Amino acid sequence: MEIKRIAVLGAGQMGNGIAHVCAQAGFEVKMRDIEQRFLDRGFETIKKNLGRGVKKGRMTQEEADAIVARIEGVLDLKRAVEDADLVIEAIPEIVQLKLDTWKEVDGLAPEHAILASNTSSISITQMAAMTKRPEKFIGMHFFNPVPVMKLVEIIRGAATSDETVRVIEDVSHRLGKETVIVNEAPGFAVNRLLVPAINEAIFAVQEHVATIEDMDKAIKLGLNWPMGPLTLADFVGLDTLLYISDYLFDEFKDPKYRAPSLLRKMVRAGWLGRKAGRGFYDYSGEQPTPIKL
Ligand code: 3HC
Repeated sequence: MEIKRIAVLGAGQMGNGIAHVCAQAGFEVKMRDIEQRFLDRGFETIKKNLGRGVKKGRMTQEEADAIVARIEGVLDLKRAVEDADLVIEAIPEIVQLKLDTWKEVDGLAPEHAILASNTSSISITQMAAMTKRPEKFIGMHFFNPVPVMKLVEIIRGAATSDETVRVIEDVSHRLGKETVIVNEAPGFAVNRLLVPAINEAIFAVQEHVATIEDMDKAIKLGLNWPMGPLTLADFVGLDTLLYISDYLFDEFKDPKYRAPSLLRKMVRAGWLGRKAGRGFYDYSGEQPTPIKL
């Protein structure tokens, strides 16, 4: 089976990044969101990120324009998926929203289409069960920023067929990504490690083991992480982090996955990280400055 047309559901941080790399790889893309302003914002980000490549001489403005032209912004779900060979979903991590969306998409997408979720934690098997094609359902977990990060974590649900895995491996390679294949389990492979690691850094800060800045400096320089864990928490979004922590805790029933109370307090305050202008750092000035705890 050859994939030519890809529908990306969601034009947010992950959705626009996925649409960008798909169009750059030559696929015909429809990017769908529920309001025009979300689509506009998605296109703006894609143009800005392609502009980095133009500035550095890696592509011409004409090439960047041609990539954008391969993406059609769409509001209507039926129109987005009716001729798709592959649907990649990157809508908010709300279980019922994902289940309802997949049920609807299953009725609208062609029979041969593969359905892939970019969920960071929700069960692939549970979403697949909403469709009449669980063997064609799979997890395709991208990382932020999508155009830069090399990995696609491919997740097999209980019923995912070998053929579906093969096609998705091939598509991911065409996107210039490396792949790992994991069997479904809460947090898959990457977030199972990343989320407890970030949480441990938050516990350490909460217990005054180190300041926010020093904790970041220690891990950045001591472990060669590109960002310290608290900077990374702000980058991922504290709401997303809390959501995944609670999900891991609920699924495993193991206290090692519990979320730090400081994280919960900050989410309740609306300090969601970089996107909110405030998280462990305040982003209102020239340089991010650590907040007072
Ligand atoms: N889109 C496109 N390109 C981007 C970009 C973006 N949003 N952000 C940065 N870049 C490019 C830059 O143009 C630059 O390209 P070049 O090397 O070819 O010149 C390159 O990336 C490096 O960028 P910068 O020099 O501006 O900055 P840094 O060297 O500090 O790198 C970073 C920025 C790539 C974001 C780096 O800090 C990093 O890798 N951070 C960790 C990111 C990470 O861990 N992501 C995973 C989060 S977890 C997740 O997504 C899973 C979810 O389920 C929670």
